Amino acid sequence: MASNNLDQLYRTVIMDHYKNPRNKGSIEDGALTIDMNNPTCGDRIHLTLQVTDGVVQNAKFDGEGCSISMASASMMTQAVKGKKVEEALQLSTVFSEMMLGQEYDDSLDLGDIEALNGVSKFPARIKCATLAWKAMEKGISEEEK
Ligand code: FES
Repeated sequence: MASNNLDQLYRTVIMDHYKNPRNKGSIEDGALTIDMNNPTCGDRIHLTLQVTDGVVQNAKFDGEGCSISMASASMMTQAVKGKKVEEALQLSTVFSEMMLGQEYDDSLDLGDIEALNGVSKFPARIKCATLAWKAMEKGISEEEK
């Protein structure tokens, strides 16, 4: 696919997640709750995770932010739901590498996450894209304590 078409496709995927967020809301009862914000703009995410038997059974988010941060949160919840904790953390590592413009393991099924690939060219937006992922990592590390 020509790169312009690919950029256009990626933009469409990002805007779809922004306008029709997956897993929006909050899990009640016994869920891990993580609140994080992006200090540079004040945008915030409220993430709830249900982790049992080493598996992310459910993930939901709420918050306010730019299209990149909210689309990334939607994609993250979609990607980690039903995954083992180690797989969720592995995806997060791959996502960080992608954002830093480094080589990453593309043998994993990244699904819609791939659409955020271009963010690495805009350093100011990297924190927008990684906000939800950092929240997920924090939640899992609290669960493991
Ligand atoms: Fe605030 Fe992107 S501008 S998270």
